[in-house]
Amino acid sequence: MPWIRVAAIDEVVEGRTFRTDAAGRPILLARVGGRFSAIEAICSHAGGRLEDGEVANGCVTCPIHGAIFDLVTGKASPRTKFAADLRAYAVRSDSGEVLVDMSPQEPVGSSAETAEETAPSGARCPFSGAARGIDFNPTAPDQRECPFDLYRRAREEMPVFYSERFDLWVVTRYHDIVRVLKDPETFSSAQSLAVDSSLAPEVQAVLDEGYPATPTMVTADPPVHTRFRELVGKAFTPRRVSVMEPRMREIASGLIDRFVNAGRAEIVKSFAYPFPMEVIAEILGVPSADMDRFKRWSDDMSARFGPLPLDRQIECARSEVGFQHYFAAMLEERRRHPRADFLTDLLNARVKGETLLNVSEMLSILKQLLIGGNETTTNLIGSAMLLLMENRDQYEALLADRALIANAIEEALRLDAPVQGLFRTAMRTVELGGVRIPKGAHLELLYASGNRDRARFDDPDRFEVRRADAFNHMAFGFGIHFCIGASLARLEGRVALETLLDRLPNLRLVPGQSLRHHEHFFLRGLERLELEWAAA
Ligand code: HEM
Repeated sequence: MPWIRVAAIDEVVEGRTFRTDAAGRPILLARVGGRFSAIEAICSHAGGRLEDGEVANGCVTCPIHGAIFDLVTGKASPRTKFAADLRAYAVRSDSGEVLVDMSPQEPVGSSAETAEETAPSGARCPFSGAARGIDFNPTAPDQRECPFDLYRRAREEMPVFYSERFDLWVVTRYHDIVRVLKDPETFSSAQSLAVDSSLAPEVQAVLDEGYPATPTMVTADPPVHTRFRELVGKAFTPRRVSVMEPRMREIASGLIDRFVNAGRAEIVKSFAYPFPMEVIAEILGVPSADMDRFKRWSDDMSARFGPLPLDRQIECARSEVGFQHYFAAMLEERRRHPRADFLTDLLNARVKGETLLNVSEMLSILKQLLIGGNETTTNLIGSAMLLLMENRDQYEALLADRALIANAIEEALRLDAPVQGLFRTAMRTVELGGVRIPKGAHLELLYASGNRDRARFDDPDRFEVRRADAFNHMAFGFGIHFCIGASLARLEGRVALETLLDRLPNLRLVPGQSLRHHEHFFLRGLERLELEWAAA
């Protein structure tokens, strides 16, 4: 192959790299000790763009997982055995230009022996959890049922690890998670709910029939986040929420009336699921005739956060659009006929004299309240009841002293967090837990793992309703995105447990049932929980 002109010589300077293409292939030019060199520009490990990597000592470091390559030979450093050598090309300069010969050739300096040394079969990124047997996969049935052993091993052996399967950096220790949450400038929330943010064109086409996705709280960074958070936070302060307690008790008792005499019920479907749904529907002003649609939208919009087959993704996107059109019409109706309710408040809300919210912003807020407040609270009620049934002494303690119920809710949130983890994006290369996290990396913060970190909680796997510091759990997150509905969820949890324990005496698990959790990447909750009691 003839020599190809690829750059002017003054474009290639010592201490930097210059990315160009030759014969349709990306190559990386450098000048090392005055001599020009050219190697492949894409990292052989996970496809990182080497032109974004740091240059030092005649080597370039991949910005993704830190593989190091010699700029002249293309050889991977022995410190990065997980990457294979890159091809190097012959280079010369002539009349002020750099020329490259793209003829196929062996990587400079490689031999059968060194190739084997640099790319042993099965070698992986040094931060890969899988390389240490920590094969993080929340979609696998065994990990869905009990992820806690894997979390513990990660905390002890590799507290920040890379999951090749999901292209995620997983953070497992309490104090590392807090560090991330305290630094929203470095760790953005823009993709905080996304395992994978890509959308199939068919799904996008459905979403295009609705209103544009507008970040307001959970997926927004300051200053946008601050603006919406201040506004919505006012509606969910402990004082504003406490006013709802009598009505919550009515809803809880009304649901129990339907099954109390049977002496036995599947408590997730008959109670834990409809209870928070009816509460939030009342707050948002949804008429009871529309509850079925409301339930379906809520389920489908939560499901969208996990990996789904395409037809289900489309179905869930349709629900989202249905939800948007429904609430856009309700908002319009309130504009014409204002009431004393949350929707009317939203229409009139202005922050610091700014303009009113637009419809997309209001819909974004409503969506977060709906999905933030439903499945999570359902899961909390289910797991709290299971923990009490499996720890009879703790159940007896609550019966003897109802004042312990509030703390039992905190302890259930700690031990079995309904939101196992959420995501952040690194805005710069940063060191965390002794690991270098590249700019642009997607992180999952495993709140459920931090909650069982013995560096923060004594005897962390034990369910103890009297635990003095249970409320220090991170089940509601931490920092600027701390759950806005925490006061509401805590009250719902307390009212639910008080009402169930009062009205259903001598509660027990129905023997022989198999307990399974819903399929979801980061939400954890029981599918069913059969309880029996001494019916009147
Ligand atoms: C047991 C029940 C609940 C759990 C476990 C839970 C969990 C969480 C967590 C972990 C976060 C932090 C998000 C992050 O770090 O990015 C969060 C934020 C949020 N939650 Fe909850 N939540 C619950 C109930 C609720 C309820 C009842 C509502 C609505 C009324 C709600 C609405 C929200 C909203 C809007 C945010 C975003 C706040 C922000 O970004 O500033 N949640 N929740």
